[in-house]
Amino acid sequence: MSLKEKINPSKLPQHIAIIMDGNGRWAKQKGQERIFGHERGVKSVREAVEAAAEVGVKFLTLYAFSTENWNRPQEEVIALMQLLVHTINAETKTLNKNSIRLQAIGDLKSLPTDCYNELQEAIENTKSNTRMTLVLALSYSSRWEIMNAIKEIAQAVENKTLSAAAITEDTLKAHLCTSSIPDPELMIRTSGEHRISNFLLWQLAYSELYFTEKLWPDFGKEDLFEAILDYQNRERRFGKTSEQLIS
Ligand code: IPE
Ligand code: IPE
Ligand code: MG
Repeated sequence: MSLKEKINPSKLPQHIAIIMDGNGRWAKQKGQERIFGHERGVKSVREAVEAAAEVGVKFLTLYAFSTENWNRPQEEVIALMQLLVHTINAETKTLNKNSIRLQAIGDLKSLPTDCYNELQEAIENTKSNTRMTLVLALSYSSRWEIMNAIKEIAQAVENKTLSAAAITEDTLKAHLCTSSIPDPELMIRTSGEHRISNFLLWQLAYSELYFTEKLWPDFGKEDLFEAILDYQNRERRFGKTSEQLIS
C-alpha cells in the first residue's frame, strides 16, 4: 500500500502551512551558491502543490519570504525576487489546468513593482479556480499582520464604528490577512529547525506541528503524504481530556 493510499480522506487537514526552509544549506552541501538551492526549491513547491491537491487538501500556505528576509545580502534578495516573478509567470497555466487559485498574504506593497504586478495578475487569472487555494506568504511577518489588525480595529473604535466592548476573537480574525482562510490544522517545517520564525502566530494556536530534517529541495510528494499520515495519528484534544473525546 502506498503512503498516499494510507491517507484517510475523512481525516484530512483542510489547510496545511509549510515553512520551506533549508535551501541555502542544501546548495552549500553541494558546493553551490545559495540561489541554486532556491531554484531547486521551486521543484519542491510544485511537488507539494500537486500532492496536496491530489489528496484533496483545500488550502496550502507556503512561507516563501519573510519580512526579516529583506535583511539578507542584497544579491540574494534580488535573485529571490527574480525567481519569484519568473516562477509565478511560468506556473499560472499549470495552476489553471489544475484549478488552483492563487492568493498571497503579507506586506505585498513592499515587493518590487514587477513582482507585485505579476502576482496580482496571477491572482486575478486564477480567482475562479475551486479545487485548492495556494497561499504564498510574501514579505510576511505575523507580528506585522497582528499589529496592522490592531491598528485597523483601533481606528474603527476611534471613528465610533466599533465599541471596544464589542471586540471578539472574530473581530481580530477579520482584520488578519487570512480572514477568508481557515486556520491550518497542520504546520510543517523542513530543515530540522524547531521554530515558528514569525509565521502565522495567531492562526497556529491549535495546529499540529511537524518537523522534518529534510532540506526543502529534498522534500517531495511522499514527504507530504508522510506528514499527513503523522497528523492523522495524533489526538487533537483542544484542552479536553482523551476520555471526553471518545464519548
Ligand atoms: C528557505 O531557505 C528559503 C527562504 C527563506 C527564502 P533558506 O534560504 O532559509 O535556507 P537555509 O535555512 O539558509 O539553509
Ligand atoms: C523562515 O525561514 C522564512 C521562510 C521560510 C520564508 P528563515 O530561514 O528565514 O528563518 P530563520 O531565520 O532560520 O528563523
Ligand atoms: Mg533558513
